Amino acid sequence: MTVEEALLIVERVLEQGCLNKVQELVFRQAWEGQSYGDIAKSSGYDMGYIKDTGSKLWQLLSKALGEKITKANAQSVLKRCARQIYATAALSDTTVTSQVKNPQAYQSCFTTHTSTTDRVTANQFQDWGEAIDVSVFFGRVEELNRLEQWIVVERCRLVMLLGMGGMGKTALSVKLAERIQEHFDYVIWRSLRNAPPLKELTAELIQFISRGQETNLPETVDGRISHLIHYLRQHRCLLVLDNAESILRGGERTTFYQEGYEEYGEFLRRLGEERHNSCLVLTSREKPKELAAQEGLTSPVRSLQLTGLPTVEGQKIFQSRWFFLGSESEWGAVIKHYAGNPLALKMVAPVIRDLFDSDVSKFLSLLEQGTLVFDDIRNLLDRQFNRLCSLEKEVMYWLAINREPV
Ligand SMILES: Nc1ncnc2c1ncn2[C@@H]1O[C@H](COP(=O)(O)OP(=O)(O)O)[C@@H](O)[C@H]1O
Ligand SMILES: [Mg+2]
Repeated sequence: MTVEEALLIVERVLEQGCLNKVQELVFRQAWEGQSYGDIAKSSGYDMGYIKDTGSKLWQLLSKALGEKITKANAQSVLKRCARQIYATAALSDTTVTSQVKNPQAYQSCFTTHTSTTDRVTANQFQDWGEAIDVSVFFGRVEELNRLEQWIVVERCRLVMLLGMGGMGKTALSVKLAERIQEHFDYVIWRSLRNAPPLKELTAELIQFISRGQETNLPETVDGRISHLIHYLRQHRCLLVLDNAESILRGGERTTFYQEGYEEYGEFLRRLGEERHNSCLVLTSREKPKELAAQEGLTSPVRSLQLTGLPTVEGQKIFQSRWFFLGSESEWGAVIKHYAGNPLALKMVAPVIRDLFDSDVSKFLSLLEQGTLVFDDIRNLLDRQFNRLCSLEKEVMYWLAINREPV
């Protein structure tokens, strides 16, 4: 059990939720076996103060858990407590939550919360369509900083977020739009999953930005693109188009459009090339060929290839919903095995929970043998197969074929 996992338990059982700074310091260092004297020395606090903080902390914990906890037995009691809470609860969301005295504090340790209603009411010129809820979102700090720099400071006109399925493109696009929305007069988020004809999409965008005032929509797609660009010049708009792969057909070297969707090529080319004050953020598994030619380090067209989450954030994906036992190196190995793909990690989490008693090392030892896990994952997911969406099925397939030993 790592100190991070122990802290989760502590924060879950304590009424006050998260520990204060000094309590956490004492807890962490005591967990690593340091004496109060060592803690005082390394932190610069007075020894009496550290001792007092420690003793109050153990008292609080003893009260919350109903048994005597001291600096000496804290590790063994918390390990036992963790097993009891999570094993007996059969780990359904509701049971775990009901056993936690302060579930909000527990959640807030992981999340930054923005509700959908906040987003919609914050600005009347926002339309978030089917944008997903990203209140549980970890890491991606560098990516968000870089994207903000490109869009807000360097005023890029078209930015692509690229990456394999499940890597977090959709989630990142929503998080990004939430973060930079204040720099725009209009924000509109749309999924291209159902491959809307460009003629309809441009009409919808024009209607939105003109606030329903546009009565003379051009008949041709070209005319509508020009009209839209006229509005994008007048107002600073953030357009997010998710799932652009739905209109693409992957080729060997370049990516072409699905039959009937070739006009999107012209649309993207013009939005990247012509002068306007807005930004289109496009997420896709593949890069449209027009944009490959336009992008560059100093060009207003850029792309960001999304890679997997690092261990710390990958671990949070697991632990935000259930408790798991694992050492740092074991976590590192599991997350590396699934390339830090958030969707893959989300799908593997219940497998480890249900089939391996939430014990990462048990899962890893089978993963290393490269045998059982493949069938187990498949069987478990097979049962749920009909409920999975197509992206999940694809990631499941990827999980199934990704059988390399860690
Ligand atoms: N940084 C993150 N923190 C927490 N969950 C994430 C993160 N990125 C993605 N997810 C979750 O992983 C799943 C897959 O992400 P998604 O954005 O749909 O991937 P993609 O669009 O690349 O296929 C979603 O359930 C999403 O909420
Ligand atoms: Mg997506």
